[in-house]
Amino acid sequence: METLKVGIIGCGGIAFGKHMPNLKKTGKVEMVGFFDIDEERSAKAKAEFGTDNAKTYTDYRALLENGDIDVVHILTPNASHAPISIDALNAGKHVMVEKPMASKAADARKMVEAARKNNRKLSVGYQSRSTLEAQYLKKMIQADELGHIYFARAIACRRRGVPTWGVFTDKEAQGGGPLIDIATHTLDMVLWLMDNYEPVSVMGSAYDYLKDTRNAANLWGPWDPDKYTVETSAFGFIRFKNDATIVLESSWAINMAEFSQTAFCGTKGGADMVDGLRLNGEKDGALYVNKVEVTPYTRSEYPGQKMETFEYEMNRWVDAILFDKPQLVTGEQALVVSEILEAIYTSSESGKPVYFDR
Ligand SMILES: NC(=O)c1ccc[n+]([C@@H]2O[C@H](COP(=O)([O-])OP(=O)(O)OC[C@H]3O[C@@H](n4cnc5c(N)ncnc54)[C@H](O)[C@@H]3O)[C@@H](O)[C@H]2O)c1
Repeated sequence: METLKVGIIGCGGIAFGKHMPNLKKTGKVEMVGFFDIDEERSAKAKAEFGTDNAKTYTDYRALLENGDIDVVHILTPNASHAPISIDALNAGKHVMVEKPMASKAADARKMVEAARKNNRKLSVGYQSRSTLEAQYLKKMIQADELGHIYFARAIACRRRGVPTWGVFTDKEAQGGGPLIDIATHTLDMVLWLMDNYEPVSVMGSAYDYLKDTRNAANLWGPWDPDKYTVETSAFGFIRFKNDATIVLESSWAINMAEFSQTAFCGTKGGADMVDGLRLNGEKDGALYVNKVEVTPYTRSEYPGQKMETFEYEMNRWVDAILFDKPQLVTGEQALVVSEILEAIYTSSESGKPVYFDR
């Protein structure tokens, strides 16, 4: 079978935790090139996941010059996503970039343009769509089980969950905090499930309360307040052309018992992901809540195969390129996520709504 030749740029946590092992599991790729500014990391990645003739590079542009490479996965801190992606697309590579797509929406737009101009595929590592619950709910929504979904709640709140490795708390390197780090996943999944990419207005608030806490009881150990330049929490109220509303909440540090959930309210029924997937509604004068027991065998594209979230995400991406199948996450969709998140920051600063001219 034909295989894809993949280059990895950025060989840190997400490369080792998601991309490389799950690309390998697809059995349809060869990882032939690796670059990280830390040479030890690219050497380790090559040793663990590279083919016998794989190479490490000391510059990402040199990796892009390798004409054998079809696809690059860009797994570096956020600020470098756009410049590296655009260079890779201009070099004729397909690109999967980690979330958020870029630190600035204008850069995300340039990435979409570069993909179109070069006729290459561009995707973003929004794995929440690949969960079994999201995939099952998507089918229910497509079958009109919920009717018109006019309200959704998208909550990505950690009580004390500031990432203390890498550069997550550095605004210059990342562009923002929990809003673009974790709420980006939740918002992406909610927009995709609602199939709603036409925001008309956004009101937002972002706060950095609690950032000066020293010795915080944090999930990943105390953070350094002197290096903390992003928000600790952010909230958005988003209205759409078709009258729908999404309320978005995000935090890395907040005085609220841990609370991450999504809920969808439609004219025929509702759904939520609080404890797995539940569908609710009213029938014959009674109210019901049904718990859906999804299993790793319910992937309709891969019948009979047991496939967890990351493996499914990588298979869908690889198959989109190898067999021209529909992409699960497109650059155009991810751009709308970036635009909404940026509007929340802008609205927070100005105290006014941001209106989209669509
Ligand atoms: N999908 C998810 O759920 C998820 C989870 C964690 C991180 N991420 C995203 O993945 C990206 C990386 O995060 P991480 O947790 O792997 O961080 P990390 O710090 O563990 O790894 C980043 C790697 O990139 C390297 N690097 C930095 N600048 C570079 C450059 N210009 N060129 C090449 N290499 C460079 C670093 O040396 C490091 O090895 C971020 O954009 C983050 O938002 C996504």
